Parts: sequence; structure tokens; C-alpha cells
Amino acid sequence: MSQAFINTFQQLYAAQPDGLSSAPGRVNLIGEFTDYNLGYVFPAALNFRTQVLFRARTDQQMVVHSQNYPGESDRFSLQDPITPGPSQWGNYIRAMVYVLQQAGFTLTGADLLIDSDVPQGAGLSSSAALEVAIGGAFNQLSGLALTPAQIALFGQQAENQFMNCQCGIMDQMISAQATAGHALLLDCATLATRAVAIPPELALVIVNSNYPRKLVDSEYNGRRQDCEQAAAIMGVSTLRDASMDLLQQHKNAMTAQQYKRAHHVISENARVLATVDALQQSDMTQLRLLMQASHQSLRDDFEVTVPATDGLVEICQTALGSKGAVRMTGGGFGGAIICLCAQQDVVLVEQAVAAHYQARFGLKADVYVCQAGAGLTVQTFAA
Ligand code: GLA
Repeated sequence: MSQAFINTFQQLYAAQPDGLSSAPGRVNLIGEFTDYNLGYVFPAALNFRTQVLFRARTDQQMVVHSQNYPGESDRFSLQDPITPGPSQWGNYIRAMVYVLQQAGFTLTGADLLIDSDVPQGAGLSSSAALEVAIGGAFNQLSGLALTPAQIALFGQQAENQFMNCQCGIMDQMISAQATAGHALLLDCATLATRAVAIPPELALVIVNSNYPRKLVDSEYNGRRQDCEQAAAIMGVSTLRDASMDLLQQHKNAMTAQQYKRAHHVISENARVLATVDALQQSDMTQLRLLMQASHQSLRDDFEVTVPATDGLVEICQTALGSKGAVRMTGGGFGGAIICLCAQQDVVLVEQAVAAHYQARFGLKADVYVCQAGAGLTVQTFAA
């Protein structure tokens, strides 16, 4: 955290902050759109983080500024009904207040200053990082005694109940619970987790397509409905409980779309577990085949890729050949792709993206070479 960040807080609020809450964005290695079907996911936190300086107020007001949106701010009273406000980023803070109050918690007013280097609109969970960091700040300020997992669940509720996004639990859970240097196998049915070390020679290379994401929430929520309908037709409560055999038995009772959505989810769950083994064995051939199959399934069955992300995957996979594993990552409809490769081969990705992406798609991509970061941290400052 920089001194300039603290100085800005002091200038805005004429006081020292009480503490700092910090939560990361994430990249998903594999297990896409499986979380809300109560399946498996395998994400890692990034070293990009959202930081929140906080200070208690005594007047039941919540005042919020963000270094990412200079000149904008939000202010609301904890005694009034919580409704959407003037700024989209400010609504994430309102959403966290809303769900915590609904759960019966009494919150203390606060002065907040946010700063984030999580790329926005890239499918790297900048919103989950904000929700979890805010949850960590409120937990400390109001003495809520929440566990990181509970903070994550409130972050998901904030999306589901206030932000109109019917997302699963993956993004908030990895942001709250990550271990540095590890990916996290999460069973979304039980919320059991297992940290799996990422071999140190492996780089997490993220390429942001910068494709403008549009109508993402409505498409996202529509996919979730397809999955729920497919599960209902098969007589299971979620797709986690369905097998390929069961799917084939009910194929004729489904629309082609429902069948394809379910086919993706059932096959993806199996790929997650196989990927955990392949990563532990540093088996690049298996990793490549599994990530390739995941991408094809997301393209053809779940239909959440766009030509720009399909093209980026092809460019990077061609450049890496047998030395890397590549697929789209995150919520789709643009966003980013992930390449797993040795540190010394990152340059192959950088060169290939520079040579071919803009020429083919008219967009400039950003390449981030990341390490797996740690989850939520909250610290208080000595008075
Ligand atoms: C978004 C959602 C997650 C998950 C992914 C797709 O990131 O927030 O819950 O569904 O999309 O895997």
C-alpha cells in the first residue's frame, strides 16, 4: 500500500484510517459455469488486488470514494432503506450493506477509500474483489466475527439479491480464501476446499481480449436457467448429480440448447478433477488436452465465447504448441484467456499476440504475467 493512498484518505476525511482490507481478483484454471450447478471449480487468486482504507464514523453514514473514479463518490445513511445509488461501483458497497442488514447485523457507519488494480471488464472478478474487501472492512469495523467463507457468501448474495447477477460462489470464495502460490479446488456443493500448489516453473499468463462485454448479466442468467431446466427434466436437483448416461436417457425430452448446456457442465466437472491431478504431476500434455476440451465445450455447448477470445486461444495455443495449455477463463462473452506455460515460454505468447491479434480483430490485447496471490487480508493501524 502506498503512502499516497493514505494521504488521499487523510485529505478526503481529515483523519487517519483505522485499517486496510484487501482482496484479490481471480483467474479460473478450469471449471467454468459449474459453480452454480454445485460442481467443482479450480481458480487461483491474482496478485491484482482491491484495497479499502476504512475508518469508523459515529453518525450512521456510509461515505465512499474510489481512487479509480476520481471526483465520484457515494454517501448514504444506514438508517434509510438501502436502494441503488448514482454510481455502479458504489452499488457494490450498498449491496454488501443490504445483505448484511437483511441477515440481522447492525453496521457502523464508515469513511471508505477504495483503490484497485484488478482489470475491470476482463472477467477477472473485480466485483468479487470489491465485495470481499468491503466485507472484510465491515467485519472489522462492526465486529461481525464472520469467517472468510461467510464473507464470500454475503458477497455472492450481494450479486444475487442487489446487483441482479445470479452468479455462483467461485469468485468470492477464492478471493476470500486463496493461499499464495496455490490454486483452490472448491466443491461448490459442500464448500470444501483443497489448496493445490502451482509448480513454481509454471506461469499464469492472462491475455485480456479487451472485447467490449455487452448484455453479460442477461446472457449469464439465461444460461443458469437452461441448466436448472435441464436438471429438472432429469429429475435431479442440480447438474452436479447428473451423469452423461442420465443425460443421454433424457436427451429427447430436452431442447437442443438445454442438452448442450448440461453436456458442458457434466463434462467440465470431470475435467476439473482430472486437471487437479495433471497439475500436481506437472503433466503439460494432459493440461493442454483438458483446457482445450474445456474451451471447445464453452464455445460449442455453452456458447459463451466470442470470435476474439476463440482467436486469442488459437493464436496462443499455436505459439506454445505442446509447451502450453490455453483456454478462455471467467464469465465469457469477451474477457480474458489463460495460458499455462513455463516462465521462459511467456515470450512466445507475448510475441504471437503482438503479431496477430490486433491485425485479425482490430483490438489491442493486454498480457498479464501473474503469480497466484493470497486471499482476503485485514489489518488495523495503531492509533
Ligand atoms: C462469473 C461468475 C462465477 C462463475 C463464472 C463462470 O465469474 O461470477 O460465479 O459462474 O462466471 O465460471
